[in-house]
Amino acid sequence: MPLDQTALLAELEPVVATNLDRHLALAKEWFPHEYVPWSEGRTFDGLLGGEPWRPDDSKLPDVARTALIVNLLTEDNLPSYHHEIATLFGRDGAWGTWVHRWTAEEGRHGVAIRDYLTVTRGVDPVELERARMDHMQSGYVNVHGHEVLHSIAYVAFQELATRISHRNTGRATGDPIAEQLLARVAADENLHMVFYRNLLTAAFELAPDQAMRAVANVTADFRMPGAGIAGFGRKAILIALAGIYDLRQHRDEVLAPVLRQWNVWDRTDLRGDGERAREELAAQMSELETQAARFEEKREVRRRRHGES
Ligand SMILES: [Fe+2]
Ligand SMILES: [Fe+2]
Repeated sequence: MPLDQTALLAELEPVVATNLDRHLALAKEWFPHEYVPWSEGRTFDGLLGGEPWRPDDSKLPDVARTALIVNLLTEDNLPSYHHEIATLFGRDGAWGTWVHRWTAEEGRHGVAIRDYLTVTRGVDPVELERARMDHMQSGYVNVHGHEVLHSIAYVAFQELATRISHRNTGRATGDPIAEQLLARVAADENLHMVFYRNLLTAAFELAPDQAMRAVANVTADFRMPGAGIAGFGRKAILIALAGIYDLRQHRDEVLAPVLRQWNVWDRTDLRGDGERAREELAAQMSELETQAARFEEKREVRRRRHGES
């Protein structure tokens, strides 16, 4: 008999407790204010009569600006994410402690990136604030919001995707201060990924067919949490063209290593629907390979045409 959602939460609670301790031992305290060059700041127009933002205030390359906006708006939607995981995982015991701890750590990311962008005049602050209002008012809904294992699989992939996106965005800024800040944020995302990845490892031991089904379904309809941002499709293409986050990275640096950790290809404990789910996943991975190769070819042609190396 498959385990129901309540049983899954109860069975995984000791694993949450162990991994929470592990997380707390590894997580380093850090302070957003130390990462921001405050002396570069200038008062803006409006109430205080300073200078309005102008495009040439920003020293950031266009694509780094786009990626920073997407990453920040994604972090900004934290109230929705908190709602989704608190509703599913609960606010009691080890699950609840994790939910709140994770939320507090994520809150630091948005604060740090916003302070950096505002002080350095990296993006138009009016446009950014309007985009934040727009994005948060749409909210975020986890499409697998009632399924524990699907949600854990999703966040394991998503935290790693976010890690890579922050790290590569940092490099794309050409600013050592931004790079340092985003590397720090990326290190947090990595620990989050490890936490969720370990939970699903335990779920594979507990209920291999259900875990495998969850992974195949989540991989099939994976969308970044920021997919609801206005103009996301166009922004995502620019980000992919710049190699900050593209299908190749999604397949080879996010999905493949996590799937390997779960030993999905060599498991001998799958039956029935678990076996079918693994076959579906294999087909998805090869389809992603085709799409990633096609995108890389197109990008290469485009680069040559634009005389880029
Ligand atoms: Fe974050
Ligand atoms: Fe995270």
